[in-house]
Amino acid sequence: MQHDLQVAIIKELMTQLDEGKNVDAGVQYKMPTSSYVCPATAAREQQEFFLNHPQLIGLSGDLPKPGSFLTIDDFGVPILATRDKTGQFRAFLNACRHRSVKVAQEERGTKHVFTCPFHHWSYANSGELMTIPNNDHFGAIDKSCNGLIALPAVEQSGMLWVHPNPDAQLDVSELLGGLAAELASFSMPSQIAVGQTTINKALNWKLANDTFGETYHFGKLHKDTLGRLYYGNNLHFAEFGRHHRFVTANHGMEAMRSLPEAQWDIARCTFVLYHLFPNVQLITSRFSTTLIRIYPDKDNPGRSTTQISFYFAPELAEEANDVGDAPAPKADAYSFQQERASLSASLEVFKSTVENEDYVMGEMQQRAAESGLLKEIIFGRNEPALHHFHNNYREALGQPLLEKL
Ligand SMILES: [Fe+2]
Repeated sequence: MQHDLQVAIIKELMTQLDEGKNVDAGVQYKMPTSSYVCPATAAREQQEFFLNHPQLIGLSGDLPKPGSFLTIDDFGVPILATRDKTGQFRAFLNACRHRSVKVAQEERGTKHVFTCPFHHWSYANSGELMTIPNNDHFGAIDKSCNGLIALPAVEQSGMLWVHPNPDAQLDVSELLGGLAAELASFSMPSQIAVGQTTINKALNWKLANDTFGETYHFGKLHKDTLGRLYYGNNLHFAEFGRHHRFVTANHGMEAMRSLPEAQWDIARCTFVLYHLFPNVQLITSRFSTTLIRIYPDKDNPGRSTTQISFYFAPELAEEANDVGDAPAPKADAYSFQQERASLSASLEVFKSTVENEDYVMGEMQQRAAESGLLKEIIFGRNEPALHHFHNNYREALGQPLLEKL
């Protein structure tokens, strides 16, 4: 992120902290809870946002070298993602052309050839059909047009994007709009995958998304976890089409106050989250990224799956450490070794906070919505990210926008 933008955001948050004010959308909205339970809405969302919408499936570090592969089965189309021998990222329908069985069963690994377990048809990691056992018994097949079904796949700024519709266009710069250049400024292309965890709970996918949409609850629900590090009740919020940037201050802000602006570093005093419509939260830092992907259960609007992945750029962190990059005062001493050593612990803490605090709220909200007795909930002036997200999907589905309170 450009340094002058970092300074502007840090100043905005310092002012909010100093004046005891939060972001103010100037409007409150009523939100119909039927959206969390309606099967017809859920079916349309599945179609519009998951089966026929670009999907961020991971970062470059998920496919670290030629021959790496990754399978994904989160949004209704089983995906096999590969890095072929030239290093190119590719994506396919994970299904044999003979009888449609998955050609790759494992979640990730290294393979140059994928062999279907059913009859052993085999495919190169670039998709070509290579061998058909007992070909003389089976009969003639034109191998040149029976490779794996290729899906549009783009690797850009360290992100792996796939479109589940083979005939669709996938233009990531157009999709990200004003965020494309900003996301390219992070070290995502050099980061390695260091951990992955899954949460499956009884809450609608939009309630899971809502968890990441306000800081009003930080000091209350998370008073013994996140609330020890973050002030809560402060937010920089900026819209980029259907996406948004969401930044909130942590206690590193006090250290910034004693440094000249030239040394201010947003990664040391805030949590920077990008919501990429419809289901992704990307939390970026100088050397690490947390990618959160949220998916509906296609058979039950009351359930969702959250995939959380951690990435880290060890070389960059080491380099910065060696040259004493942007020296911080003692109170904010930054040690990449500590960060590296504590990454798996961080993943567990993060998962536990989301699963045992946020999503417990979400499950209660889901039950209330399912009762049908609480027709509406309320979004406050301090919750603009919720206004934005809910109005975005409503607009995309042709539903009326939220009504003012
Ligand atoms: Fe939370």
